[in-house]
Amino acid sequence: MEISGRFCVYVLTLLVVYFLSPITVHSMIRHYKFNVVMTNTTKLCSSKPIVTVNGQFPGPTIVAREDDTVLIKVVNHVKYNVSIHWHGIRQLRTGWADGPAYITQCPIQPGHNYIYNFTLTGQRGTLWWHAHILWLRATVHGAIVILPKLGVPYPFPKPYKEKTIILGEWWKSDVEELINEASNIGTAPIASDSHTINGHSGPVSNCPSQSGYGLPVRPGKTYMLRIINAALNEELFFKIAGHELTVVEVDAVYTKPFKTDTVLIAPGQTTNVLLTANANAGSKYMVAATTFMDAPISFDNVTATAILHYIGHTVSQSRKTVLASLPPQNATWVATKFTRSLRSLNSREYPTRVPTKVDHSLFFTVSLGLNPCPSCNNGIRLVAGINNVTFTMPKTALLQAHFFNISNVFTDDFPAKPSNPYNYTAPVNRSVNAATMKGTKLYRLPYNATVQIVLQNTAMVLSENHPFHLHGFNFFEVGRGLGNFNQKKDPKKFNLVDPVERNTVGVPAGGWTAIRFIADNPGVWFMHCHLEIHTTWGLKMAFVVDNGHGPDQSLLPPPADLPKC
Ligand code: C2O
Repeated sequence: MEISGRFCVYVLTLLVVYFLSPITVHSMIRHYKFNVVMTNTTKLCSSKPIVTVNGQFPGPTIVAREDDTVLIKVVNHVKYNVSIHWHGIRQLRTGWADGPAYITQCPIQPGHNYIYNFTLTGQRGTLWWHAHILWLRATVHGAIVILPKLGVPYPFPKPYKEKTIILGEWWKSDVEELINEASNIGTAPIASDSHTINGHSGPVSNCPSQSGYGLPVRPGKTYMLRIINAALNEELFFKIAGHELTVVEVDAVYTKPFKTDTVLIAPGQTTNVLLTANANAGSKYMVAATTFMDAPISFDNVTATAILHYIGHTVSQSRKTVLASLPPQNATWVATKFTRSLRSLNSREYPTRVPTKVDHSLFFTVSLGLNPCPSCNNGIRLVAGINNVTFTMPKTALLQAHFFNISNVFTDDFPAKPSNPYNYTAPVNRSVNAATMKGTKLYRLPYNATVQIVLQNTAMVLSENHPFHLHGFNFFEVGRGLGNFNQKKDPKKFNLVDPVERNTVGVPAGGWTAIRFIADNPGVWFMHCHLEIHTTWGLKMAFVVDNGHGPDQSLLPPPADLPKC
């Protein structure tokens, strides 16, 4: 009796401890299987086979909670090499699971597989996953929903329901063929044929029968839309007729809530908004995604539309859908107003930890360029580069080269500033030499260094918006401006209190953006423009962050199934 009584107390104590320690109790391992397959599709009244995950477009949503570990087995059943990136996931010490081909891993070859294994630490909100090789991400992408830890509320009223809205771009032709042909002649491929909202464009002029996505809502309820821009090359305005949206989170970081009728979202970015269904329930409302482009280049001007309707209300046939009044496509002012409204929440629970001192102050020019190419159109090839370096993809993955000390794969001499400064944003004189140099150059950072990068757009060839994405870190956007960055005046205006924290930021046409981050994640981390055409042209580089000295400050060893080149 005595013993079993004590035993009962012991068991009870264990149970109490078990239920009181949320971290060990509630985090779990989530398993997913991604079969990469060819799938026949018909869109815009035209059919073609596309690469998908599990036959779905957009692909399956990954749902997990903060602190969970996610294991995704990717099996490659197609003829292309494949790799998948979990865009925005910090991958603390698990760079092997980050995904960019030839940066952190060799691609998964046809018939092979790889298990991506990572833990969701310190992040909650919407992110997404996409293929990170060739242009496969056109159709190989999907949402990642990271719920807060069990029992932890959102810092805003709990929405009645949540919906994922993935914006994409659709070509009637085969995307890989398009980019191959364009690369052969040194130009950009044609713009896409339409945008999509959750895989549907809605009726378009040359295919009026094309269906659109439907967004049913209940009167009076508040919904959270998790908006993802999965388009390859186009920044988008997103709008719902007759309804205001409240932005509450971007790139899996809470923001100070603000109201807007138009959301600006660049490829790579995610934005959570609250939508209250408080309009006249007897009407239907247009949901629209349309391009923002303020540079003189051709773009896809076909607006994707969806329909919001009120559940339980029949709308008479004669009643027209309330149309969204869309900003003009070159509405820089709408874009700027949105960008300037973004502030991180900076609450007691979610403080903004902006570095106030800077160890590495970098100045990166972001430019297009023209290199000689005898077999190309006009003998020149469009390229792009950072500090005039066009990044050359290695044949061995950089993270392996770093971890195993393999020489002759990369050099760590990426320039901290341009070697030939010029008046970056002045109109370019045609006779100027727009050629770039090539190299697989990385910038080395010690563990925990604080870094500031001024991303300076230039007028070389032409100046357009560049959504810059950094792998492995979130950064703070401490400043932005037009013209050339002024080292004396501009830092005085930096926001070091509540700057927006994110993983992808727009460098404005004819201007600059300043970002800061702490290099607290050892590994090799890609940074690139998230317009796929610019990545292709070489607008990319990588950081190598050395191990620290502490027990949790080293890159973990590679998993046994890491693909080989
Ligand atoms: Cu979403 Cu390196 O990309």
